[in-house]
Amino acid sequence: MTDGPLLAQLNFGREDAERDATEGLLLRGGFLENAAYRGALSGRKMLIIGRKGSGKSAICMRLMSDGGHDGDKILITPDEAAGEEIRRFELQGLPGDSAKELIWRYVFAVHAARHIVAHAKGAHAGHRLDSVKALGRFLKQNGESPDATPGNGRLGERLAQGARGLQTSLALEAFGVKASMDLGQPSSSEGAGALKQLEVVEQGVVKAFGELGCDGDVHAPLLLMVDQLERVWSAEPDSNSMVIGLLLAAKHAASQYGRSVRFLLFLRADIYDSLSFGEGDKFHGDELRIVWTQQALKDLVLARARASVREELSEERLWKDLFPATVEGEDTATYLLRHCLPRPRDAIQFLNACQDEAGLKGQRERITEADVDQAGRQFSTWKRKDLASEYEVAHPFLKHLFLLFENTGYVVSRSTLATRYEAAAASIHAKFPAYVDTLTLTGIIGVLYEVGFLGVRRGNDVVFADGHHLPVQPHETEFQIHPCFRAALGATSATDLRHYEPRFSDERLASGSLTASGSSPLNRDDRLLRAVASSCRSILGQIERAVQLTRAVSDEIGQRIGRVLDDVNRIPPGSARSNGVDVDEYLHSTARYFRTLAVQLSAGSLGADRVADRLEAEARRLIRLAGGAQGSTGDSLGP
Ligand SMILES: Nc1ncnc2c1ncn2[C@@H]1O[C@H](COP(=O)(O)OP(=O)(O)O)[C@@H](O)[C@H]1O
Ligand SMILES: [Mg+2]
Repeated sequence: MTDGPLLAQLNFGREDAERDATEGLLLRGGFLENAAYRGALSGRKMLIIGRKGSGKSAICMRLMSDGGHDGDKILITPDEAAGEEIRRFELQGLPGDSAKELIWRYVFAVHAARHIVAHAKGAHAGHRLDSVKALGRFLKQNGESPDATPGNGRLGERLAQGARGLQTSLALEAFGVKASMDLGQPSSSEGAGALKQLEVVEQGVVKAFGELGCDGDVHAPLLLMVDQLERVWSAEPDSNSMVIGLLLAAKHAASQYGRSVRFLLFLRADIYDSLSFGEGDKFHGDELRIVWTQQALKDLVLARARASVREELSEERLWKDLFPATVEGEDTATYLLRHCLPRPRDAIQFLNACQDEAGLKGQRERITEADVDQAGRQFSTWKRKDLASEYEVAHPFLKHLFLLFENTGYVVSRSTLATRYEAAAASIHAKFPAYVDTLTLTGIIGVLYEVGFLGVRRGNDVVFADGHHLPVQPHETEFQIHPCFRAALGATSATDLRHYEPRFSDERLASGSLTASGSSPLNRDDRLLRAVASSCRSILGQIERAVQLTRAVSDEIGQRIGRVLDDVNRIPPGSARSNGVDVDEYLHSTARYFRTLAVQLSAGSLGADRVADRLEAEARRLIRLAGGAQGSTGDSLGP
């Protein structure tokens, strides 16, 4: 097979697990079993927490598929109508969280009951058991039976009925309970009444499980999963109660149904982390956070590439034949994954964009470095938008903060940020008055770090948040914009240090138009130009000694000075005048450039003070030389 068709076939799958499972690669070899999946499968963890696109639904889809969970499984994904019902659900006499807990417990009980009725027929041939029949009758009388509701009934509609039932009365005759009479005083609160009714239903379910012997020994337990809660979430208190209620209900139901049912809740990290409730600490042991390392993402990419071309594609072939071996001098896989937030959706999007550029638009046989660059810009624009929309609910001001980073260097100090923010704070506060407490300098740095937009410098590393790292500490002063946002912000170089404008273009040099005038002895002009070169070298030496400087920053200052040095070195000895160079002016303009850099560096507070001092000193020296006495090298006037 030639490269052409191979690249045309290459793709990395769909961006969301639901579509990826039906029309993509997820269930065709594109799934990578990670720690979160193993934790979910083993049943040791109940809460699977991850950022948008980190693979929550993928785990869910995989567990639902053949070869996933080894027993029956039910997936609940609340749609708009169901979400609305739950958010609105109230019971007089109960606080919001507890009311939401009851409605979720009801949802679980009904799903378990429906499962038992079907399961008893199929797996146990024990559907003549009274307890099972009772569940069947209960479902029918309350409009919850799968037969009574064509297409299994929409969750939202069924919930509406169930909610009314809990608030008033459910038909519980199937369990031998005569309406409200047997359930205590009519004077008791709505909440107390609902709880009593619910307990009857739950006990009915427990009894049937017990009599059927579904306690995890004969066959695997029923797996009940809830995913896509984010679709019905907002920052309103009702929404928070909806999620807290879900957690409480799952915990309660898990102990109630013991080994017969296992619960798995998939929650977006931003939602989970925004909850605060008294019993929150009881859930830490149930939490499992999805974390992706670069290596794991690389494995995932390879698995997907192989699944798409349907042949034994070697890693070597993927990264050397289909992709360019390096991008900007860096190993391509490392470059690509470094430009993604660490989650599969980002990797899939970026790599598909590369394939689109080369295979689809360019109809080429290989992806070139230029394709990666082009795809990277597109991807960066997406990411800037996506991050704002991911946090639209929790941090609606985010996209306004991005403006603070437009057309600047990607390395930013706390004090630079302070200056920029000072200028913008008033207008941001006016737009988001409800968030003024967060909208302080420390507050916004915390948010920008937490969402993965800024990394913080720790020692010689830049650390981006991944759910495990310390928050930004007050003494930490240097930050970097994550590579995936840089192109979209126009922040592709480390600093915004001014560029040096070379006097002598490459063309002029190539055409040989700089004329040499033989080997005349060194004159004043030559000595002055040599002094420029030696200034450059001494600044470069200072940069090299500035070990505390961030590498990207020192490289960039070095490059700027390197340009000055190259430029002056292009003037052949003894030929300044014949090439139209006014040497005094040349020294003055170089000195001005050094000063500009010195000011920019000090203002940037990037820890380059000594380099800035040296630039200033060399600028002074050049000015003195230019105006100084003939014959003196001026070196003695240096620092
Ligand atoms: N473990 C995995 N192996 C392979 N692909 C994965 C894995 N986890 C996620 N993906 C893929 O990444 C994309 C985003 O995952 P998804 O589950 O939709 O994210 P979430 O539900 O957390 O927002 C989907 O295309 C999904 O198929
Ligand atoms: Mg999902």
